[in-house]
Amino acid sequence: MTKEKNNREAFLYLKSLKESGVKEVLVERKNAPKPKPAALPARPVWSDAAALKAEPVSAETQAALKALREEALKCVRCQELSSTRQNVVFGSGNENCKLMFVGEAPGRDEDKQGLPFVGDAGKLLTQIIEAMGLKREQVYIANTLKCRPPKNRPPEPDEVANCRPFLEKQIELINPAMICALGKHASQALLKTDIPISKLRGEFRDYPGPTLGGIRIPVMCTYHPAYLLRNPAEKRTVWEDMKKIMKALA
Ligand code: URA
Repeated sequence: MTKEKNNREAFLYLKSLKESGVKEVLVERKNAPKPKPAALPARPVWSDAAALKAEPVSAETQAALKALREEALKCVRCQELSSTRQNVVFGSGNENCKLMFVGEAPGRDEDKQGLPFVGDAGKLLTQIIEAMGLKREQVYIANTLKCRPPKNRPPEPDEVANCRPFLEKQIELINPAMICALGKHASQALLKTDIPISKLRGEFRDYPGPTLGGIRIPVMCTYHPAYLLRNPAEKRTVWEDMKKIMKALA
């Protein structure tokens, strides 16, 4: 059938529809361009200027952090942990950060390398940080305990108490604008509470420890990345918490 004949038949068909009272016909165009999918909201990409404090830590503070690290490396306050550790994991990252993450305690990989969050949970934490538009090098990461508990058992209350002065001094010197506590143990230790993580997460709470000049540091508690590896459905929940941090940082 020729194109002209086709058109003529279509014309006659539409005419007959019109004559029988049809007012509107929906026509699907062949090869019509597909509608573009709605653009995803742009993810912020934090430049160093936005992710780091305007006033970088002074040389004095840097020296104090170095001295604190050296003290922690020699610590034997916990007899069991100090005799079983390979390395003390003091913390790493940007001392000028606006955002500091605090985890529970080093695991096997961290103990081996002397660095926080370098195992599977650490890889997920890096992904979370990057999804927030930040780079790992723009934040600081520390733990509640600086030494690995054997077989990754949860920290004992006396171990948390022994290590608290290191974490408190670290926070005071780094002086972040905001802290994200990862998981039940870090959240409860930081906030000095036994409220369950499911109730603590999702809202900013005040850090009760000493801060530089007595300023208020908001703490966002969320689920631990290791928990997310076992319960991936909760990634959504953590993302809700991270969005609150991003909004507050912006
Ligand atoms: N889990 C933590 O809480 N901290 C680490 O450094 C690694 C795993």
